[in-house]
Amino acid sequence: MYLNNYINNDMVDNWPRRALSHEMDRMKLIVNRPSLPSWSEFEELAKEIWDSGYLTNFGTVHNKLLHNLELVFKTANFALCNNCTNGLIGAIKIIALPKKKKVITTPFTFAATAHSIIWAEKEPVFVDIGKEGFCISPETVEPAIDSNTSAILPVHCYGLPCDIEGFRKLSHKTGIPVIYDAAHAFGVKVNGKSLLSEGSASIVSTHATKVFNTVEGGIAYFSDNKHLQRFTAMTNFGINRGMTDQLGFNGKLSELHAAVGLLSLKDFSKRVIERSKVWNYYDKFFSEIDAVETSVIPHGVKLNYAYYPVKIVNRNINLDDLVRKLAAKDIIVRKYFSELLTKMPFFKDSIIIGTLDNAAAISDRILCLPIHENYVSHMDFITTEFLTAIK
Ligand SMILES: Cc1ncc(COP(=O)(O)O)c(C=O)c1O
Repeated sequence: MYLNNYINNDMVDNWPRRALSHEMDRMKLIVNRPSLPSWSEFEELAKEIWDSGYLTNFGTVHNKLLHNLELVFKTANFALCNNCTNGLIGAIKIIALPKKKKVITTPFTFAATAHSIIWAEKEPVFVDIGKEGFCISPETVEPAIDSNTSAILPVHCYGLPCDIEGFRKLSHKTGIPVIYDAAHAFGVKVNGKSLLSEGSASIVSTHATKVFNTVEGGIAYFSDNKHLQRFTAMTNFGINRGMTDQLGFNGKLSELHAAVGLLSLKDFSKRVIERSKVWNYYDKFFSEIDAVETSVIPHGVKLNYAYYPVKIVNRNINLDDLVRKLAAKDIIVRKYFSELLTKMPFFKDSIIIGTLDNAAAISDRILCLPIHENYVSHMDFITTEFLTAIK
């Protein structure tokens, strides 16, 4: 009744139908199904938040989540924000060298990576990914560096790490800061160390589709504590000790969003173990299928198993047909990332240095398959249907 005063009847009438179609979507084996804590736990914590009347602005649950993340990842240099895109914008604003305009990045990514550069009043420069893997490399970035380069923005694509040692050396040699788009990299470790505390900044997405989520949200790491303080103030309208002393925006994570993260964090390791079973099942299955190339996890890397990217090397297989055939069986795969950003209307006139041959070859043939902690019992079905679909 209360809602009826605010919402017209047509909208109310459509609710059950929308709820139903949403429910049906949940039955499908979708590629990035959200990982959620139990409803009863969430309800209990949400009720506490409700009753406290304190819903946002660095509240108790936000602070608890931040504290727990710092314990888990053994760093004291995180801030939470309302999404990775805003985190990246803030990090570029704070860290990229002033008066220099260009930020070198990858075309094999989601639009948010390059959007954040433009929102931060810089210009993206696209270079190729390396011969192996899905990331730009020091070898493809170095020839693109010039006197106007203000930062390097690599993406740990699918959570598979970039050459962090190579970028550390390149940054040291040139004085150009590296800001990582670590949107996919929550929980990934390299030689026992979290990937989230690399570069001058690393920004994670905790969007609903990510392996750890706060519905919408982000985690920002800064190696320099002064940058961290500035970022925290920036996401709160630039307010520092009661006074606005810089350009800011509203980038805060609410208590309800933080609650989802706080409850999910407890089970994160268990979920990764289940996801690794799905990954290993796929690996074994595809090792006998010539048409499909899988990804090798580099030595020393502990993955979060957020994505299962495969390259369909047999060019007789039409990817759109394959996606459609699998969707007909409720197996939802994605051509992620296809097209390259440089092929999209908004970015088509951007600066490109060198060829983008490696990125183009991958983006043409890439598919991400469903991976989730609840899919272990569906693996036989998914792989059997996949085989039928590529025949
Ligand atoms: C590589 C990459 N960067 C940035 C983002 C943006 O993340 P958010 O939705 O948290 O802003 C995404 C989203 O999926 C992404 O894939």
